[in-house]
Amino acid sequence: MTGLKGVVWKMNRMKAFVKTGPGADDLAIEQAAVPEPGDRELLIRIKAVGVGIHDSYFLPQTIRYPYVIGIEAAGIVEETGNRVTGFRPGDRVALVSSMHEKGGTWAEFAAVSADSLILPIPDGMSFEQAAAVPVAGNTALKALSALDLKQGDSLFIAGASGAIGTLAIQLATGKGCTVAGSASKPNHPYMKSLGADRTVDYRDPDWKRQILDWKPGGVDAAMAVQPGTSEDALAVVRDGGRLVTVSGDRAEPERGIRFLQIPHKTDVRHELNTMINQIADGKIHVEIEQVYPFSEGLQALRKTQTRHARGKLILTLV
Ligand SMILES: NC(=O)c1ccc[n+]([C@@H]2O[C@H](COP(=O)([O-])OP(=O)(O)OC[C@H]3O[C@@H](n4cnc5c(N)ncnc54)[C@H](OP(=O)(O)O)[C@@H]3O)[C@@H](O)[C@H]2O)c1
Repeated sequence: MTGLKGVVWKMNRMKAFVKTGPGADDLAIEQAAVPEPGDRELLIRIKAVGVGIHDSYFLPQTIRYPYVIGIEAAGIVEETGNRVTGFRPGDRVALVSSMHEKGGTWAEFAAVSADSLILPIPDGMSFEQAAAVPVAGNTALKALSALDLKQGDSLFIAGASGAIGTLAIQLATGKGCTVAGSASKPNHPYMKSLGADRTVDYRDPDWKRQILDWKPGGVDAAMAVQPGTSEDALAVVRDGGRLVTVSGDRAEPERGIRFLQIPHKTDVRHELNTMINQIADGKIHVEIEQVYPFSEGLQALRKTQTRHARGKLILTLV
């Protein structure tokens, strides 16, 4: 319902990172109109933004420039549409919005559909921490559900020190699996601190033999997080094992190995809610390499594009 607050924000414009045109570098911080939520939408006052490599290219098919980028954030419900149930103004939420033609989350306000992935933020959890959870958590849970891991299974994660790998190591070891992860050497103690039993350096030409020494015959399952890692990861999977690609790699399945894509339609909301509460309770660690002031969003985007961030990068609007 539009109340007095609604009248105030309607008069205002907001700070936002916008795509100004179709070129890869057409990004700028500008003033934009505050979006008006529809009947089945919520208006969120954004407090922190989760940064992802996708933020510069996840755009709606029908786009009008300037377009506010971003799909992930944490904030406070400012207003709810007439047909929204289950949320009230003042609720603290973390969310993944769809690529909405009204614009995304890199702004002071965002309109999101009530059908989006919206998680209540547990008491005591900061907006920065909450903003780090939805995309990586959703992806890690879906990737692991595709692999259908059982207690005692072995898992190799190619790219285990990023945001998705950080959660996947902990979720898999929590299920009683043994995990090996790849990253460069400086990230090995970090992956071990999360529960990885074996770590390898993807730059070392010998890394596949090291995994096969660890699990002779190959691992039961592999998760290829970084693009282009699936083919090499297949080489360390046992006959009849499983591999899930997180970044949409294509590869020829071999030796009866099942080659799986992320099951986007699998509903993991319940598990994600459990996870965010476990993070709040300190049972699962979420890594934030750096929190940037909102005005430095383009630096954060450039850092994520290097593919060498540990865990997540966050923008803060507080
Ligand atoms: N399908 C989906 O729904 C979905 C959702 C979200 C994201 N994604 C995809 O997932 C990927 C990003 O995942 P993320 O955010 O977890 O990670 P990220 O930020 O891209 O991961 C960076 C980490 O990966 C390591 N790394 C870089 N290159 C590597 C390589 N060749 N082999 C092994 N490790 C490597 C880096 O370690 P060093 O610094 O030690 O090299 C760094 O710590 C993107 O490709 C994105 O498109 C897919």
